[in-house]
Amino acid sequence: MVKTAKLIVNGNTYELPLVVGTEGDTAIDISRLRSETGLITLDPGYANTGSCESSITFMDGEKGILRYRGIPIEQLAEHSSFRETAYLLINGRLPSEEELNAFSVRLNDHSLVHEDMHDFFEHFPPRAHPMGILASMVNALRAFYPEIPERSEEEEINLTFSRLLSKLRTMAAMSYRISMGHKIVYPRHDLSYCANFLNMMFDSPVRPYLIDDDIVQALNVFWILHADHEQNCSTAAVRLVGSARVNLYAAISAGIAALWGPLHGGANQAVVEMLLEIADSGGDPAPFIRRAKDKNDPFRLMGFGHRIYKTYDPRARIMEKECNKTLNKLQKHDPLLDIAKKLEEVALKDPYFIDHNLYPNVDFYSGIFLRAIGIPVNMFTVMFAIGRLPGWISQWKESVDDPHWRLHRPRQVYTGLKETDYIPIEKRK
Ligand code: CMC
Repeated sequence: MVKTAKLIVNGNTYELPLVVGTEGDTAIDISRLRSETGLITLDPGYANTGSCESSITFMDGEKGILRYRGIPIEQLAEHSSFRETAYLLINGRLPSEEELNAFSVRLNDHSLVHEDMHDFFEHFPPRAHPMGILASMVNALRAFYPEIPERSEEEEINLTFSRLLSKLRTMAAMSYRISMGHKIVYPRHDLSYCANFLNMMFDSPVRPYLIDDDIVQALNVFWILHADHEQNCSTAAVRLVGSARVNLYAAISAGIAALWGPLHGGANQAVVEMLLEIADSGGDPAPFIRRAKDKNDPFRLMGFGHRIYKTYDPRARIMEKECNKTLNKLQKHDPLLDIAKKLEEVALKDPYFIDHNLYPNVDFYSGIFLRAIGIPVNMFTVMFAIGRLPGWISQWKESVDDPHWRLHRPRQVYTGLKETDYIPIEKRK
């Protein structure tokens, strides 16, 4: 087995060690490249760059495999709860019954948001996007929960994890209630994580929200599917910002900002907007597929394609099933689901999509599911953020505990002007 790679530059040969992961994925360790050769690597978008070693999530984009701490996503979706999956990601193993109960109590104990924060919520302009509100509010949490020097570091970190997991969900529901002009609903100690969220979103004095176990379970699955995805854009943002040793709230806020983008978590909103546009134009996906293939048109088929998956995203299959189950349970018919299925069928037979390995990703069906359970479109990415939080937390924790930890600071190849003299303003043309 070869343990090094050879690099030959200007007649000099350098040996670079190889790092092999538990699933056989192999990387060339270039951490001494610059000090030994004076060279750096250039990899726009980091598609060929491993930024860390990680034991949290394994993905095989060719085979369509996703596992958290070794457990296939299909098994977690079938048997686990979001709360348990969060524990698994953060602590590296499944909890005992006692540990899971203690974790639930802890989450419930930290579910309230400081009353003074309500003022913040109420003063965002009515058209403010909930993702912007969420990123700001998570950052603001630090002001309400500063570090207490008497607490041990471990105690402080565990408290911050529980606060974030519990309060992010409460704040998401609050922002929706306030945007509707409705009074907020407080979290309840007797409800599970997902049931509590649905109740805070939809309970009303005129129409009490009836908690349906099937919908609660479907939401558990939705959040499990989103809980981690190794070094994606928002997770990389959390690790990068966290590498400056900022507090966890600030690092998570950076992750939320990254997730907002339509190429990342914002895609679930963009998919539904695209499907609505197709519906409005008569329901035929063909012109949209033509536009997606046109190199002169920036339009892309939303919910299709992935940096890592070159086959069907395993999360998309589970999401499609949950979507069908939920619509059946609610006895609803969503014409967008028919359009999505038609679009998928046509795209998967099209040589452009076949040659480019473009398959549906998790966002393709998740928006239809969210619509079915009553989540408004501008809250879709917030739902993704709640789901991704355990992943961000566990990746942050792994990165700060890493003995090889260093401040993230990429290099560049400078392509600007050579040294140029300053010209006084009166002499400039
Ligand atoms: N529609 C049409 N063409 C596409 C699409 C698409 N959705 N995605 C990629 N391509 C083409 C792209 O035009 C390029 O073609 P060519 O090589 O001929 O110039 C080629 O495929 C490679 O594209 P890329 O942008 O270099 O690939 P990437 O790995 O950087 O992009 C992606 C990944 C997810 C940003 C991209 O597939 C995309 O924009 N998809 C739509 C947005 C979306 O659904 N995002 C959600 C991702 S899953 C949720 C998450 O994990 O965040």
